[in-house]
Amino acid sequence: MKAVILAGGTGTRLRPLTKLLNKHLLPVGRMPMISYGLISLQAAGISDILLVTGPDALGDFASFLGSGKDYGVSLTYRIQEEAGGIAQALELAQPFIGGDDKFIVLLGDNLFEEPLKPHLDAFRAQPDGAMVLLKQVPDPERYGVPVFDVDGHIVHIDEKPSAPQTDSCVTGIYMYDGTVFDLIGALSPSQRGELEITDVNNGYAAKGKLAYRHLSGWWTDAGTFGSLLEASRKLMGDLP
Ligand code: G1P
Repeated sequence: MKAVILAGGTGTRLRPLTKLLNKHLLPVGRMPMISYGLISLQAAGISDILLVTGPDALGDFASFLGSGKDYGVSLTYRIQEEAGGIAQALELAQPFIGGDDKFIVLLGDNLFEEPLKPHLDAFRAQPDGAMVLLKQVPDPERYGVPVFDVDGHIVHIDEKPSAPQTDSCVTGIYMYDGTVFDLIGALSPSQRGELEITDVNNGYAAKGKLAYRHLSGWWTDAGTFGSLLEASRKLMGDLP
């Protein structure tokens, strides 16, 4: 299975730290943020990885990660010319993924402890469709939040709802089959002018093909100063 890491965006909530440096290259514990996703994927047996980022940051990623050799992975890079949403960045992965292969997508600012392999194995065993990983959080209104039917299937995901229906959020760890690119191709920009990953997932949910599992370990999206600090504390290990 191949993987895609999305590492673009402007990192506005972390300015001025992100004025010179892409968010995913900021230090978290002892490593730049991007390192954690690569290590998780490699540990799960995935070594063929596409990294999508903006034109300003590509040189920094290439200088730091090179071919991926130090992480035991093989990296391919693609540029997202302008920030147009997570789904638009993902669309750039189509030539890399090719065919109808299943693959995993990580948002590069999502940091987590537990191994990906059990989740990947469950997705491999699923005939088709998509899978998202959910996490219980105290502030679901900051995220995509699933709505379940009486049988516990996801029927819809509300993006940043003012009145969340559950205390679980959709993390930035997504697994898709090849039909994801048809769904992206049919999307229209949201009110904020972006192609939304939640609309992609809702396309699967509408067909009854959005499976889910729960992340039991620690997880954060390190996109704010508070969560960046929390992640550093958690992932630093023993001092010094
Ligand atoms: C994105 C997704 C959201 C998801 C979150 C996880 O939000 O749109 O559904 O819960 O990532 O990190 P963003 O961080 O772009 O606001």
